[in-house]
Amino acid sequence: MMEFKEAIFAAAVVAVLLSSSPALAQKKSPPAAPAPVSLPPSLAPAPAPAPHYVDLAELLSVAGPFHTFLNYLEKTNVIETFQSQANKTKEGVTIFVPKDSAFAAIKQSTFSNLTGDQLKTLLLYHAFPKFYSLAEFKNLSELNPVNTFAGAPYTLNLTDDMGSIYVQSMWSKPKISSSVYATKPVAVYALNKVLLPMQIFSKDPPLAPAPAPAPVSGASDLAPSPASGKAGAGSGKADSTSAAFSVGTGIVNGLVMAAAGSLMLLW
Ligand SMILES: *[C@@H]1O[C@H](CO)[C@@H](O)[C@H](O)[C@H]1NC(C)=O
Ligand SMILES: *[C@@H]1O[C@H](CO)[C@@H](O)[C@H](O)[C@H]1NC(C)=O
Ligand SMILES: *[C@@H]1O[C@H](CO)[C@@H](O)[C@H](O)[C@H]1NC(C)=O
Ligand SMILES: *[C@@H]1O[C@H](CO)[C@@H](O)[C@H](O)[C@H]1NC(C)=O
Repeated sequence: MMEFKEAIFAAAVVAVLLSSSPALAQKKSPPAAPAPVSLPPSLAPAPAPAPHYVDLAELLSVAGPFHTFLNYLEKTNVIETFQSQANKTKEGVTIFVPKDSAFAAIKQSTFSNLTGDQLKTLLLYHAFPKFYSLAEFKNLSELNPVNTFAGAPYTLNLTDDMGSIYVQSMWSKPKISSSVYATKPVAVYALNKVLLPMQIFSKDPPLAPAPAPAPVSGASDLAPSPASGKAGAGSGKADSTSAAFSVGTGIVNGLVMAAAGSLMLLW
């Protein structure tokens, strides 16, 4: 608001200076048309509240760690697609961002073997071209399968299991582990696994060789998989309270991020 008023004021000052400048006055033989009169503030069109601009690359680089996902987004230019969707403040964007550990869990050649188009599609598969708050997922889950940003055959199923929200692809069923940012028009939710659609992965991609002792939780909510028969069905109940808690803390994190974001804007 202030900036808008200042801009109008500055424009008015410039207009007055120009019209009263002797040099200019001499050049124009007929008296110049009346200098544009700036409207009194009450008559000026009320400036709409500036939509909150979110720089996705910046957000993903400070939150996270989401470096792997961000690197892929930048390498493929999908970051531009997401950013321009985020700029459409009426629709907005929802992005599911797998943590670095989620990518590290899968054999690395899985991703380096993809063609450029497949990688792009995989990234677009991690988003909806619309803003959804966590509260809206329950309703959205009634519309399963839900189309992603990647277009028609690339769908996801959402499930709300006592407050824990799961995002199901063919070969993985990650849980939303935190809400990184959720202020219209941008929603960014962290996932503990990469989404793996069957149109890109004809079979369950191999896991990376386990480094240290594998964490006990985390391996428990793999999607039941016809090919490898990874056990997992029914194991989701035990950690649903901690999951709800983690989504809760995530929202707090999101608020902190949002506050930090507005501070950054003030700078
Ligand atoms: C999004 O909006 C910002 C701020 O208006 C602008 O600088 C940026 O170029 C836009 N990006 C895209 C991809 O449309
Ligand atoms: C990637 O491609 C190489 C060479 O074709 C192959 O040996 C490897 O198994 C592939 N990796 C995966 C995960 O499919
Ligand atoms: C979910 O749908 C119900 C019934 O259509 C509606 O009343 C409610 O507001 C919706 N909730 C959200 C969060 O959109
Ligand atoms: C999603 O749900 C639909 C309808 O319930 C089902 O047909 C489809 O197989 C599910 N897709 C996945 C990836 O689980």
